[in-house]
Amino acid sequence: MDIIDTHTHLYVNEFDEDRNEVIRRAKENGVTKMILPGINSGYISAQLQLAEKYPENCFLAVGLHPSEVKEDFENELKIVEKELQTGKYIAVGEIGVDLYWDKKFAEHQKNAFEKQVILAKKYSLPIIIHVREAFEEVFEVIDRQNDTNLTGIFHSFTGTKKQADKIISYGGFKIGINGIVTFKNSGLDKVVKEIDLKYLVLETDSPYLSPVPRRGKRNESSHLIYIAEKILEIKKISFEKIAELTNDNAEEIFGHL
Ligand code: NI
Repeated sequence: MDIIDTHTHLYVNEFDEDRNEVIRRAKENGVTKMILPGINSGYISAQLQLAEKYPENCFLAVGLHPSEVKEDFENELKIVEKELQTGKYIAVGEIGVDLYWDKKFAEHQKNAFEKQVILAKKYSLPIIIHVREAFEEVFEVIDRQNDTNLTGIFHSFTGTKKQADKIISYGGFKIGINGIVTFKNSGLDKVVKEIDLKYLVLETDSPYLSPVPRRGKRNESSHLIYIAEKILEIKKISFEKIAELTNDNAEEIFGHL
């Protein structure tokens, strides 16, 4: 059964030594399709190279990550739009608001996020949202911009049932679950139990957030199976069913990969 990793940063230098091996291991474990969200313009050429080398496996998103938003973000957004015009991207992301690491650019972050949501609408693409300690700020933007065509993923979800319900109520959004669900005391398993499977997609967010039993090590797409196994334990259905349903959910957002 093939399974989609909806969020990996396979192009970062943590994988420079063995990137081809990492992709081979992913495929061996059934993780045949990987979505690679952007961080900033400095990574674009590395992303494009990977998609050219592995056109059946690697799919790209472009966007300015909230933690990369500085005074000059408008220049970065110009590059994002220039890239979108090439038609090589299946989504805009990752974009959003992160007030955990730094609140200094909070207003810029909100502004950059909203502008990129508008870009996604202009190019009819889904969005990949990063939110950390900023649900209120992100919801404020989506409340304003949501329409019947806007779709996307709230990636690396660690919120409450109430926040999940709010996401679902928008109509076009899914919830990305990663290794955090395997962490003892994260409490995320209890929230996931309450969310209907038709709203969940799986992701590694590699090289970060490696799931148990690889916690603390570099994460990679082959580890997606540990996340799927945890979800099947929570939902009490088969691995095949988890893969099938979460793949369908991912393709509902990103189109047929
Ligand atoms: Ni990410």
